Amino acid sequence: MGEIRIETLQGRALLPLLPALARLRIAVFRDFPYLYEGDATYEAGYLRRYAESPCAAVIVAFDGAEAVGAATCLPLEDETATVTAPFRARGWDPARFFYFGESVLLRPWRGRGIGVAFFAAREAHARAVASVDFATFCGVRRPDDHPARPAGWVALDAFWRRRGYAPQPGLACTMSWREIGDAAETPHTLAFWTKSLTGAALP
Ligand SMILES: CC(C)(COP(=O)(O)OP(=O)(O)OC[C@H]1O[C@@H](n2cnc3c(N)ncnc32)[C@H](O)[C@@H]1OP(=O)(O)O)[C@@H](O)C(=O)NCCC(=O)NCCS
Repeated sequence: MGEIRIETLQGRALLPLLPALARLRIAVFRDFPYLYEGDATYEAGYLRRYAESPCAAVIVAFDGAEAVGAATCLPLEDETATVTAPFRARGWDPARFFYFGESVLLRPWRGRGIGVAFFAAREAHARAVASVDFATFCGVRRPDDHPARPAGWVALDAFWRRRGYAPQPGLACTMSWREIGDAAETPHTLAFWTKSLTGAALP
């Protein structure tokens, strides 16, 4: 394991990296709690949006030439209705939020501060490109007794709280994907967390 380089990439600079980023998402989200079977066609379209949205960015962790982790972000306004609808329903203007899509880091590189750097870089990017008051992301909820939960698995809630994020009770969206071993996609609930970037309070 060499020196880790963290880069904030946008637009065309992302295009050559999209296949590697898709492989990272598929590899990391195969594990609990996502249990994502992986769909290369979906990945190509999903990630291309980050290259096409002028204010979006992907923070990439490189070990040498290899992308070993990535974190995505874009204005919430540029997200799909699936993601923005719960905010609109609550009367919260999506224009005030920057949305963090995901952080994925291969296991051997975890616990060295890269996840912390992903949050710092995304918050810095949001402040640089948009006049937003809040950052937000969502995470899948799984019951404590889920049969696929590995022994000793620890939720990221404490990690997220230490980065200054708080869950927003009742604010959630539904995304569908095919779980490992399933023939068809099933719906999954993802709960939103937020952090004020400016000191502004949520309405
Ligand atoms: C989320 C994820 C990217 C976090 O990555 P990570 O690099 O292991 O996290 P970090 O090493 O930055 O932080 C973990 C802890 O180590 C600490 N740490 C260790 N070395 C550090 C260093 N050199 N500098 C700063 N912090 C360090 C951090 O402070 C943090 O502890 P804290 O929460 O008490 O402050 C990673 O766990 C992952 O890919 N998980 C699977 C996918 C997932 O669930 N993603 C989130 C939803 S999309």
